[in-house]
Amino acid sequence: MEKVIEKIKFKIDGVEVTAEPGTNVLDAALENDIYIPHLCHHPDLVPAGVCRLCGVEVNGRVVMSCLTPVQEGMEIKTENSEIDQTRQVALKLLLTNHELVCHSCSANNRCELQKVASYIGITAADMGQMRRTRAVLPMDSSNPFFEFDPNKCILCGICVRTCDEIQGVFAIDFVNRGYDTVIGSFGGKSWVESTCESCGECVVRCPVGALMPKQAQPPAREVKTTCVYCGVGCGIYLGVRGDEVVSVRADRENPINKGSLCVKGRYGFKFINHRDRLKTPLIKKDGEFVEATWDEALDLVAEKFNQRKGDQFAALCSAKCTNEDNYIFQKFTRSAMVTNTIDHCARL
Ligand code: FES
Repeated sequence: MEKVIEKIKFKIDGVEVTAEPGTNVLDAALENDIYIPHLCHHPDLVPAGVCRLCGVEVNGRVVMSCLTPVQEGMEIKTENSEIDQTRQVALKLLLTNHELVCHSCSANNRCELQKVASYIGITAADMGQMRRTRAVLPMDSSNPFFEFDPNKCILCGICVRTCDEIQGVFAIDFVNRGYDTVIGSFGGKSWVESTCESCGECVVRCPVGALMPKQAQPPAREVKTTCVYCGVGCGIYLGVRGDEVVSVRADRENPINKGSLCVKGRYGFKFINHRDRLKTPLIKKDGEFVEATWDEALDLVAEKFNQRKGDQFAALCSAKCTNEDNYIFQKFTRSAMVTNTIDHCARL
């Protein structure tokens, strides 16, 4: 019988809400559609409490909501003058060095920093007062799938924690100290020379436009489907524009991948609309490949197979096929082709 988890009851700004035990105040508020500004928190990661924007008042004390677990009967206030002042300062310090090119930034309209600034409220005078010039830092475009712009980075550490906690790769970290702190790889290597596996998990969690995919365009619509790269069967949404696939988004509701993808599933979609893609079978005639129908191609394959039964035949299954396809293929190889010489690409 499924265990029923007793929910904790507490109040946020006088509104009675509930959450599962162990939930932090920030997640509990967001689950109940109550916004608390935040930048360094992501529900998939262990809270770090570095941006200092998510302060709330609990029993007269200001605490960081991402680091505070909910308790029965708690009375939480999301606003007071001290919280407001702390947020203003934290936000201004973040904006001091942030490259303000919102209209040309690919993260425009889905940037968490924009959302926080609009919620907290920031004036042009505030910006002028705090702004200080710093040398434009070079972008790292070495990775074939995404690029990193340190001028837009807010040092929230979500990318570093994603690489450590979710991927276990530890490819990036905070580099240098104080004002010179940036995100980089060990030994000052470029992103592509690091141990990065290009999974893009950090890119999808970046709250601003510092880590952006190179080839994604906003889609006009999305189609829910299954990744074709291997037998795991990760759930994805293909972003479509016109009749072209322009993006891939992982399905967080899918029980198999729960929102994660590997480099192939996330970035390897250009083949779908590639002009060199084969759309019909080709049969070699007089040294040249010529287009053929499926019936012609399959008849030819059957004829050749008949000439090569037993020791002259070997089969290699594919991880792109389902278990059922691979089962049928080994059955065919053993029964119809009369050989046990069959292997699978996963053993490479
Ligand atoms: Fe809590 Fe950043 S979200 S300190």
